[in-house]
Amino acid sequence: MAPGYNNMDNGAPYSSSQWLEKQESGSRKSKWIVIGALVGLVALIAAGVAIGITVSKHHTTSSTSTKSGSGSANADNGASGAVNQTNPNDPSSFVADPNLKHSFYGLAYTPAGSQLPDCGNSLDAVIEDIQLISQLTSRIRLYGADCNQSALVLEAIQQTKVNMTVYLGNYNVPNDGGVAYTRQRDTIEDAIKTYGVDHVAGVTVGNEYMLNYLNANGGGDQPNGPIGDAGAALLIPNITDTRNMLASLNLPKTVPVGTADAGSFFNNLVLSNVDYGMSNVHPWFANVSIDQAADWTAEFFQGNNVVVAQGLPNQPQMFIAETGWPSESSDVSNESNGPSTASVPNLQTFLDTFVCQANQNGTGYFYFEFFDEEWKDQQFGGVEGWWGLFNANKTLKALTLPDCHID
Ligand SMILES: *[C@@H]1O[C@H](CO)[C@@H](O)[C@H](O)[C@H]1NC(C)=O
Ligand SMILES: *[C@@H]1O[C@H](CO)[C@@H](O)[C@H](O)[C@H]1NC(C)=O
Ligand SMILES: *[C@@H]1O[C@H](CO)[C@@H](O)[C@H](O)[C@H]1NC(C)=O
Ligand SMILES: *[C@@H]1O[C@H](CO)[C@@H](O)[C@H](O)[C@H]1NC(C)=O
Ligand SMILES: *[C@@H]1O[C@H](CO)[C@@H](O)[C@H](O)[C@H]1NC(C)=O
Ligand SMILES: *[C@@H]1O[C@H](CO)[C@@H](O)[C@H](O)[C@H]1NC(C)=O
Ligand SMILES: *[C@@H]1O[C@H](CO)[C@@H](O)[C@H](O)[C@H]1NC(C)=O
Ligand SMILES: *[C@@H]1O[C@H](CO)[C@@H](O)[C@H](O)[C@H]1NC(C)=O
Repeated sequence: MAPGYNNMDNGAPYSSSQWLEKQESGSRKSKWIVIGALVGLVALIAAGVAIGITVSKHHTTSSTSTKSGSGSANADNGASGAVNQTNPNDPSSFVADPNLKHSFYGLAYTPAGSQLPDCGNSLDAVIEDIQLISQLTSRIRLYGADCNQSALVLEAIQQTKVNMTVYLGNYNVPNDGGVAYTRQRDTIEDAIKTYGVDHVAGVTVGNEYMLNYLNANGGGDQPNGPIGDAGAALLIPNITDTRNMLASLNLPKTVPVGTADAGSFFNNLVLSNVDYGMSNVHPWFANVSIDQAADWTAEFFQGNNVVVAQGLPNQPQMFIAETGWPSESSDVSNESNGPSTASVPNLQTFLDTFVCQANQNGTGYFYFEFFDEEWKDQQFGGVEGWWGLFNANKTLKALTLPDCHID
C-alpha cells in the first residue's frame, strides 16, 4: 500500500513531543498487509518504576499526620493529592494503593508541563507521579530532557526511595543545527553529574527521528532507502556524541545508548550503532480489532523488530517503546479506528490480553502511558490525550489492573 502518513506535527520550532502521526506499515510481510497494518505512533512518555512501599523509612514518631490529597491543599505545589504520606515531609512514606499492581515491565512517562517554552512541571508533581508509578513498575522511559525533567525524575526517585530505573531521553530533531540535541545532552550530563547512574538504565537519542525525517523528505516507508540512510547519517553522530559524553564522565558502569522510533521505521545503520532500540507498536492506529490487538502487537514486534535486530552484527536489544489503547476520543469522528473503538472496556481488554502475556514471554515493553496528557488533547484532539492508565488528575481509570508481579 502507498505510504500515506498523516503527520500532525504542529510545526513549532521544537518541543519534546509535540507531535504525533500515523503511518502505514512499511512491512512487506503479507501477513501484515492482509491485516492492513497501519502503525501509528503517538509519542511521549516514559515510565516509572518501583515497588509499592507503604511505610515510611524514617519512622517519625507522629504516624498520624497524613498529607492528604484532597485537592486544594496541594494546589500550589503541583501535586494533585492523589497520594497520602504517613509523614508529610517524607515522600518515601507514601501509602500504597491496593488497586495498583506491580505488573508492568515498564511505563512510558512524560511529567506534565515538560514542553518548551512554557514548562510548568514541578518536583512535587513528579514525586507524586513516581509514588504512583512505582506501584506499577520498576522501569520508566522519558522522551526528552527539556524543562529539567531528567533531574526532576532522578530527584523524585531519590526522595521516594523507590526501586526505579529510568531511560533518559534526548528528543533531537534533524533540521535545527543540533540545537535541541545539544541543549538536552547538556541537561542530561548535568543530571548524571548530580545523581549518578544508579537509577539510569540508558540514554535514548531520538524519538521517531527516522519517521519524521522520512516524512519530511519524501522518503516514504523506506527507512533503509537512500533518504533513510541520509537521515541515519544525521542521527548517528548525535548517538556517538552521547556515548562520548558518557565516557568522559568516567561512570562506574557503561550506560547503554539507544534510539526510539516507529515500529516500521528503523534504519539498519542506526540500529548498528545503538545498544538498544525502542519500537512504537500501536494496534489501535493499525486498525486492528481489540480482540486481535495483543497478539498483533507481539507478532509485529517479533517479526519486524526483534528478528531484524538479531540479524545485525551488534544485535541491539529491542523493546516495545509504546503500546496501549485509548479510552476515549474527544470527537466522534476519531472514536473508532475502524474495527474497534476507543473505550475504557477496550483498554481493559488490552491490559487483560497483553500485560501478563508479554511478561510471560519475556518481552521488554513500556506501556503507553502513565496518565492522560491534557496538552495533547488541546493540541491534537481525537484520541491523542486519552492513553493513560490514570486520568490527568492522577485517579486510576475504571480499570482492574492485571495482577502478575514482575520485578
Ligand atoms: C488519604 O487519607 C485520607 C484520610 O485518611 C483519606 O480520606 C483519603 O481517601 C486518602 N487518599 C488516598 C488517595 O489514599
Ligand atoms: C532541576 O531539578 C533539580 C531537582 O529538583 C534541582 O535541584 C535543580 O535546581 C533543577 N534545575 C533547574 C535548572 O531548574
Ligand atoms: C546532532 O545532529 C545534528 C543534525 O541532526 C547536527 O547538526 C549536530 O551537529 C549534531 N551534534 C552533535 C554534537 O553530534
Ligand atoms: C483505519 O480506520 C479509519 C477509520 O475508519 C479509516 O479512515 C482508515 O482509512 C483506516 N485505515 C486503514 C489502513 O484501514
Ligand atoms: C506471547 O507468546 C505467544 C507464543 O509465542 C504469542 O502467541 C503471544 O502473542 C505472545 N503475547 C504477547 C503479549 O507477547
Ligand atoms: C480526527 O479525524 C479527522 C477526520 O478523519 C482526521 O483528519 C484527524 O486527523 C483526526 N484527528 C486525530 C487527532 O486523530
Ligand atoms: C479525576 O478525573 C476524572 C476524569 O475526568 C473524574 O471523573 C474524577 O471525578 C476526577 N477526580 C477528582 C478527585 O478530581
Ligand atoms: C529492582 O528492580 C529491578 C528491575 O529493574 C529488579 O531486578 C530488582 O530485583 C529490584 N530490586 C528490589 C530490591 O526489589
